[in-house]
Amino acid sequence: MKARENQMRLPHTLKTPPFLQKFQWAADPIQYMEKAARQYPDIFTGEVVGFGDTVVFVNHPQGIQEIFTNEKKIAALGKLNGILQPLIGDNSLFMLDGDRHKQHRKILMPPFHGERMQTYGKLIPNLTGKVFSQLPIDQPFLALTAMQEISLQVTLQTVFGLYKGERCQQLKHLFPVFISNVFRSPLTSSLLLFPFLQQDLGAWSPWGKFLRQRQEVDKLLYAEIAERRQQPDPDRTDILSLLMSCRDEAGNLMTDRELRDELITLMLAGYETTATAMAWGLYWIHQKPQVRKKLLQELDTLGDSPDPMSIFRLPYLTAVCNETLRIHPVSMFTLPRVVQESVELLGHTLEPGTVTQGCIYLTHHREDLYPEPEQFKPERFLERQFSPYEFLPFGGGARGCIGQALAMFEMKLVLATMVSNYQLALVDKRPEKLQRRGFTLAPANGVKMIITGQRARQESRVTMATTSAL
Ligand code: HEM
Repeated sequence: MKARENQMRLPHTLKTPPFLQKFQWAADPIQYMEKAARQYPDIFTGEVVGFGDTVVFVNHPQGIQEIFTNEKKIAALGKLNGILQPLIGDNSLFMLDGDRHKQHRKILMPPFHGERMQTYGKLIPNLTGKVFSQLPIDQPFLALTAMQEISLQVTLQTVFGLYKGERCQQLKHLFPVFISNVFRSPLTSSLLLFPFLQQDLGAWSPWGKFLRQRQEVDKLLYAEIAERRQQPDPDRTDILSLLMSCRDEAGNLMTDRELRDELITLMLAGYETTATAMAWGLYWIHQKPQVRKKLLQELDTLGDSPDPMSIFRLPYLTAVCNETLRIHPVSMFTLPRVVQESVELLGHTLEPGTVTQGCIYLTHHREDLYPEPEQFKPERFLERQFSPYEFLPFGGGARGCIGQALAMFEMKLVLATMVSNYQLALVDKRPEKLQRRGFTLAPANGVKMIITGQRARQESRVTMATTSAL
């Protein structure tokens, strides 16, 4: 009875039957969200699958601010992310709460900021050069695949300090296959969305395949952990080394299982998201010739071999990346939050137990914030400053993305390297559609492109190594 009363008080409950909503949500979340927002632009309650059955979606900056800042009443509890458990285990940052969550964030944040970024500043253009030097001239390639390769290598380097050796090669091969098998389409993503499909019916069944591939990835991760334990190297600065040297309040080191869960979390959270953002960036830069032209003009002001930090600070490049993440936020929504004490949200009272998510996609497509929201216009980010509740590709508050600085750095350096050194063109003139890939929104056709030539040497600004000496 109480549940029903609470249900009745939920803001703007959609009238479509729940099973139909769930189906629409799994198959085409964009259409689902846009349809709901036409009726209720600021806040609505939907019946979905994933992080909760009944979810209050918030698309108004004021509501988002409340979610990010009123952490006492609206908590970002790890147990809400249970859907990810089969991938990342129980000890992942996504699953932790309270002091342990804070402690792990404190360990994991520094490697993605400050001084460490200088090291990546050389690595990223070099990896980009290496990946692109292997692509054939005048033959189509998928930008998404090329970006995944760069992003995976950056992740392996930052997380494990691994960029060569047999285990690195194995991980480079196995991890994308593993992730792709789960996320490559709405149908395969359903494995995580609908737990009743998680049946091991042998190696050929979808879930059986998932479990076996996970075991193979785990074997490699545990082997790396064991080797590091046997041969500790105090000079290593990668994240695995940092995690291995950390002790909790009781003085205990992290167990192998805990280390494995954090490693796979970072690979999962960092690899596909950044690659997708960069593929969208390449798409828009080449979809809009004037954007490429302006970008080149800006890059050329830096002269030869610019310092990576100068590239990072370029205003137009920053605006292009922001506009890419606005129009196609890789993540459709924030992680879920749950109401702990009755709270007012946009004039509605939410009762304890109510699950709510900031809807990044719909906030970024609000006409009142971003006029002509379907148009790609980097200038809007030069003309106006948006608050963290209006522009939120990395979420915010207690669960805000820890990889934000690295992802932006990587995106800017890769796009700058590409545009400076290559002439590229889109193969397909039709607009790319959005497709759900797990929890991300990816270009449905992977952004098919072609290298039509290299920019003349004297024009090339961002230097990169094209040899295998990385
Ligand atoms: C363009 C790339 C990326 C996007 C769009 C993105 C987006 C997000 C979003 C929306 C959240 C949820 C925030 C919230 O609920 O408030 C998140 C959380 C997270 N992200 Fe990212 N992310 C990206 C790259 C990365 C990278 C490179 C890493 C690390 C290697 C990373 C690691 C994480 C982790 C560990 C969390 C969970 C934080 C926690 O539970 O405390 N992400 N990300």
